[in-house]
Amino acid sequence: MESLLVIFVLALSAVTTALDNGLMRTPPMGWLAWERFRCDIDCKDDPKNCISEVLFRDMADRLAEDGWRELGYVYINIDDCWASMERDSNGRLQPDPHRFPGGIPKLARYIHDRGLKLGIYGDLGTHTCMGYPGTTLDKIQTDAQTFADWGVDMLKLDGCYSNATYQEQGYPLMSKALNATGRPIAYSCSWPAYQGGLPPKVNYTQLGEICNLWRNYGDIQDSWDSVLNIVDWFSANQDILQPAAGPGRWNDPDMLIIGDFSLSVDQSRSQMALWAIMAAPLFVSNDLRTLNSQARTILQNKAAIAVNQDPLGIQGRRLLREKSGIEVFWRPLSNSASALVFFSRRSDMPYRYTTSLGKLNYTSGSYKVYDVFAEELMPGLSDSTAFTISINPSGVVMWYVLPAVSREQSQGGGEYPDFRRKYRVSSRLRQAKDSKPSFLL
Ligand SMILES: *[C@@H]1O[C@H](CO)[C@@H](O)[C@H](O)[C@H]1NC(C)=O
Ligand SMILES: *[C@@H]1O[C@H](CO)[C@@H](O)[C@H](O)[C@H]1NC(C)=O
Ligand SMILES: *[C@@H]1O[C@H](CO)[C@@H](O)[C@H](O)[C@H]1NC(C)=O
Ligand SMILES: *[C@@H]1O[C@H](CO)[C@@H](O)[C@H](O)[C@H]1NC(C)=O
Repeated sequence: MESLLVIFVLALSAVTTALDNGLMRTPPMGWLAWERFRCDIDCKDDPKNCISEVLFRDMADRLAEDGWRELGYVYINIDDCWASMERDSNGRLQPDPHRFPGGIPKLARYIHDRGLKLGIYGDLGTHTCMGYPGTTLDKIQTDAQTFADWGVDMLKLDGCYSNATYQEQGYPLMSKALNATGRPIAYSCSWPAYQGGLPPKVNYTQLGEICNLWRNYGDIQDSWDSVLNIVDWFSANQDILQPAAGPGRWNDPDMLIIGDFSLSVDQSRSQMALWAIMAAPLFVSNDLRTLNSQARTILQNKAAIAVNQDPLGIQGRRLLREKSGIEVFWRPLSNSASALVFFSRRSDMPYRYTTSLGKLNYTSGSYKVYDVFAEELMPGLSDSTAFTISINPSGVVMWYVLPAVSREQSQGGGEYPDFRRKYRVSSRLRQAKDSKPSFLL
């Protein structure tokens, strides 16, 4: 029986191989210009905030000097509006000469010298979303080679001004063209977002074979409503999306807006917790030069990052939606650990929620619990211990849960919930690294 299950699971994992470029075995982390800086090209009147080499050098300095790089935030990603309106005489893309006078190779060197990586933006179609030159099918090889020659480490390929047939041809072609350059370039595909994000129009098996990450859904905006809308769409479709993710291939619910204008401290923690549970890329889009310390503390939370970066790379799920407006999310982690997020959709006052690990289907045994945002180890729990936590309106309580005794000693008890069969994760659990998370030491 057991061996049949193993064969079944291995067969399933064999059909979902990742793009073979060795990149992004855990979700990528870094900074991305779009949500905060958009297409501000007014360098005359707004020199500090316009899309120019100055902005990207400033953000690289902050990632390198303010403790981000060491936590894994290494990508500095350019989005739309970097290019000149005209290709050069050889048909190659070129940056706007006034806003990027040093050129992209020099900016790439600046970023690499600081131990960081450079991402750039293109669009499969006649134009980018903001009307700059697009990458038509006949330009795919040229543009891939140009990015490789410049020393670019990641490409986000948007999908404005094209159609389904065009995208079906173009996205796989760009994957091949990037590979053919010989330079490892991570590949972010906006393709599914342009096709509704769901089968049959979207083939997640194929996406996992050609892209490292993909945008499934609409752009995030600087509002709590936008965060909720994204979380609800990802949760409603989790049976499709959750198995699509894994090392080297990630669903991308879009940027973190923590440190911008609209989220409260509780809402900021909620976005961080839910993005960690969803194994989402962590691209912050804010002004790192003026970030307040509360936002920085949340974005630099080591336990939340450890959950996001867990080497098994299994995306989490929403387990429960209570009538009270409390939702419970869960993600299995290496070392038989797991993460739980208790999320309040209420808008009145802190809600006292009572449950037990047993009610959440954890197997019998005793557990250690680390409260991620309180940054403290809690008293131990057994699966049957009822506990009550207080969850702020639009806030979360996030736990990192570990069996109190190792798996061998516990004879199979004291583990993460019994969801392995249901969600087909046992083959990957076998490969778990046996390293303790540093925040628990
Ligand atoms: C290109 O693809 C081959 C085969 O899938 C792989 O072994 C190689 O590492 C890839 N190279 C790059 C630069 O992505
Ligand atoms: C899709 O776009 C291509 C290139 O612009 C065009 O030739 C083709 O007719 C379009 N197909 C549809 C179904 O609109
Ligand atoms: C999805 O893509 C995979 C891999 O490319 C392919 O084998 C499979 O037939 C596709 N599925 C559908 C329904 O087209
Ligand atoms: C726990 O397992 C039972 C039986 O399989 C199921 O009905 C219930 O929904 C599960 N609870 C959670 C929180 O997933």
